[in-house]
Amino acid sequence: MKEQIHIFDTTLRDGEQCPGAAMNVEQKIQVAMQLETLGVDIIEAGFPVISDGDFQAVRAVAERTEKSRVCGLARCVEKDIAAAHEALKAAGERERIHLVVATSPIHRKYKLGKSREQIRNMAVKSVAMASDLCGEVQFSAEDASRTEPEFLAEIVESVIDAGAAVINIPDTVGFTMPEEYFRLISYLKSHVPNVDRVRLSVHCHDDMGMAVANSLAAIRAGVRQIEGTINGIGERAGNTALEEVIMALHSRRDFFSEVRTGIRTNELVRTSRMVAAMSGLAVPRSKAVVGANAFAHGSGIHQDGVLKNRSTYEVMDPEEIGWGATELPLTKHSGRHAVKMRLSALGLSVPDTDMPRLFELFKKRGDQCKFVYDDDLAALVDSL
Ligand code: KIV
Ligand code: ZN
Repeated sequence: MKEQIHIFDTTLRDGEQCPGAAMNVEQKIQVAMQLETLGVDIIEAGFPVISDGDFQAVRAVAERTEKSRVCGLARCVEKDIAAAHEALKAAGERERIHLVVATSPIHRKYKLGKSREQIRNMAVKSVAMASDLCGEVQFSAEDASRTEPEFLAEIVESVIDAGAAVINIPDTVGFTMPEEYFRLISYLKSHVPNVDRVRLSVHCHDDMGMAVANSLAAIRAGVRQIEGTINGIGERAGNTALEEVIMALHSRRDFFSEVRTGIRTNELVRTSRMVAAMSGLAVPRSKAVVGANAFAHGSGIHQDGVLKNRSTYEVMDPEEIGWGATELPLTKHSGRHAVKMRLSALGLSVPDTDMPRLFELFKKRGDQCKFVYDDDLAALVDSL
């Protein structure tokens, strides 16, 4: 029996924290509906206490969705918890309050000016308060990867006793390395006596380009909730790109044989496009899984291989992600095989004796421009 990896989408909260990516209430509703169609387990819709707009957006997402859990972020202070609960009420049993407090020595000293004991008390008190209001409380130890492991274990044990159902261990500043993160999660699993009562989660940032690798390492260590955003948008260098984790788990199910997700992978491209449009953050062409070039093959050798059998240069089926067929753009790198295939797709017939001349003209055209479009090819055929 495979265990489920719960997909926690924070596009509407951490994703939106990316400067310039703010979305209005209507846009957030549209994205949330699409996330539900995609099949994400939890939608973090915002941080209700920070503005009236965020409060209204969380409330609207709670009202309009039907299946996914809806979550709102709150610091470990009473007014945040009250605002989150108020905004989330319409979600009923799908409500989750997400509490966060920083635990690392750097944050304790410079940001909060509080001792370990004070932080632990704040966390325990807040988890207990939120648990009285809502059926499912998540606790995040901000900057967990730079926190002393024994203190992290202590605070995690205490908040579980206070009622937390999900414990999130964030790599807030994208500091950790996959092996280290694996060891940290394994340490918590073996040093927190009540850990089996909760679901462990990770939330990674991509400051050194490790967010997806760290998330996958955490799954190997036993984590069963992954947080991230569509297209990897978020604070600074962004968050774990959920589409990459989802497709890694799906395409390498031989390696991740013990787990599965409930995601409809063929909705990924549509979701990515919607988030790009709503956030105003374009997806780089060469972005894994959802970038325009993710399944576009350029060189003659590659195009020839793909035309013979796609598995030569593709490790995922583009149609499973929601792409149309594989793209073979004609460029100066393309070979005869690709040109012949395009001619036949366009219904253009060229006698074999004319092919060497056409190919020569094609290469000349390719040297002049980035792509040889269908119209260009037709004009070359006409000029023979
Ligand atoms: O990066 C972080 O630690 C966060 C927390 C609120 C989970 O975004
Ligand atoms: Zn974050």
